[in-house]
Amino acid sequence: MRLETLAVHAGHAIDPATGAVTAPIHLSTTFERGADGSYPRGYIYTRTANPNRSALEKCLAALEGGAAAAAFSSGSAATMTLLQALAPGDHVIAPVDVYHGTARLLREVFAPWGLETSFVDMTDPGQIEQAVRTTTRLIWVETPSNPLLKIADIARVSDIAHAAKALCACDNTWATPVLQRPFELGADLIVHATTKYLGGHGDVLGGGLIAKRDDGFFQRIRNIQTSGGAVPSPFECWLVLRGVPTLPYRMPGHSENALRVATFLSQHPTVEAVHYPGLKEHPGHEIASRQMKQPGGMLSFQVKGGRKRAFEVAAKVKVFTRATSLGGAESLIEHRASVEGPETRTPDNLLRLSIGLEHADDLIEDLAQALT
Ligand SMILES: Cc1ncc(COP(=O)(O)O)c(C=O)c1O
Repeated sequence: MRLETLAVHAGHAIDPATGAVTAPIHLSTTFERGADGSYPRGYIYTRTANPNRSALEKCLAALEGGAAAAAFSSGSAATMTLLQALAPGDHVIAPVDVYHGTARLLREVFAPWGLETSFVDMTDPGQIEQAVRTTTRLIWVETPSNPLLKIADIARVSDIAHAAKALCACDNTWATPVLQRPFELGADLIVHATTKYLGGHGDVLGGGLIAKRDDGFFQRIRNIQTSGGAVPSPFECWLVLRGVPTLPYRMPGHSENALRVATFLSQHPTVEAVHYPGLKEHPGHEIASRQMKQPGGMLSFQVKGGRKRAFEVAAKVKVFTRATSLGGAESLIEHRASVEGPETRTPDNLLRLSIGLEHADDLIEDLAQALT
């Protein structure tokens, strides 16, 4: 089946008890055992498995073309579980501009636990190869990256990982399976903050970890998920699943709007730089055109005049909302460096945009008046 059909049907089934077309939310934490001591319907206790979570996991695996998936209470919980499935002493290679929450997990939570990380420029295969050690178990790729929209070549990074007998994990939150297919490019694991485009409505926090193979490593992930319990509630699973059927139609809308906004900004005299892989002058444009169906709904730009000027522009918008996060129907603008904290490498004059599903002309007019 094609992605549009999978998005509507994978994990969406008629409720056998009532015939309900939209799935009921199973709030029960516990499930009846048979007189013979068995669990005839497959469910025991909701931390271990719940019908709404099973449905979401089935859907996530189908969307990415993976063998199995595990759902989590946030994207960061999915990342954390993948890192916990490694062992102290293992070595990870991650992008120097990886999502700042992932960098913080690696530096502040997993370094004391014994995981070693090398942060490299993921756009430079030579740097990745040089960072490989005998203990390297995982190469983490996030593309497009947050917030500079750098593009890493997933196929190339996967080859380097496999030559080192390591796994390649791809954070596919920004591109989604609609625009980018990491398993087809060689990745072994895919991470999502379902909080963003998959949920799609800015009303649910969640994460997903999808495995290409349902092997021993995925069983470790499953064990950490069910033993630790960083799982989404049944309602949260239901909300993410409710968002998915429209994903294949939302992503082209986000992307087409973003290209128009990026083109406008790139011609504006008060804008210093625009970071959007859909623009021909973007250094990752060629790779992005190859590995992405469209360049996506996220972009960032740097204004002339520094931090103060960036805040002034953000203060003047009327259609955009000043807020963090991304992937909803409404467009958001954010001064990224001040959100990322003192360790940030993000330029002080940078504003990040999550382009929503409004009319592109309204977004452009809003930015035009804010930049004046
Ligand atoms: C690329 C990326 N990965 C992971 C996350 C973490 O997701 P969550 O906030 O659901 O923990 C985010 C959040 O912004 C993100 O942008």
